[in-house]
Amino acid sequence: MDGAMLEALRVLLRWLHLLAATAWVGGSLFYLVALRPALRAGTAPPAVGSAVGREFGHLVRLCIPVLLVTGALLTFDRLADGRGNVLYAGLLALKIAAALVMFVIAWEFGRPGVRRRPSDARAAVLLVLGVLILLLAPLLRAVYGS
Ligand code: HEM
Repeated sequence: MDGAMLEALRVLLRWLHLLAATAWVGGSLFYLVALRPALRAGTAPPAVGSAVGREFGHLVRLCIPVLLVTGALLTFDRLADGRGNVLYAGLLALKIAAALVMFVIAWEFGRPGVRRRPSDARAAVLLVLGVLILLLAPLLRAVYGS
């Protein structure tokens, strides 16, 4: 594959990875700071919470394989040229571990027959991990050097 094609593929992979990450973390933030308070205050009916939870669950179950596949390819791309140092590998391992915990927690809620809305504690853990990963991503880029 020539250089221009490879660069175009990198941009596509990063775009898909970023899109899935933004949709998931943004949706979690919306749930915790907008929907949940409205449900608690009774200004949004419980049926809205269930319907939004169900639709968001579908979105998250789409985001997970996209993040896994694009993340694996980005990891291969970054590690293949040997420019990543020990700090890079350590931060990447932390990012992947946090992502795997998110996947396990989130996958449960999308399963048919499982309660659609996560407990507040689990939703908060998902958001905290998501925000941590969003911090690790630019850190990784800075450590890698581009
Ligand atoms: C096992 C799953 C995952 C793997 C293997 C993975 C791997 C990677 C790798 C290798 C990079 C490139 C880092 C660099 O610039 O050197 C990256 C970037 C990024 N990752 Fe992940 N990731 C995973 C899951 C996630 C999740 C769950 C999120 C967010 C919720 C996320 C958000 C991001 C973001 C925002 C970037 C920066 C994209 C850019 O600016 O180009 N990743 N990921």
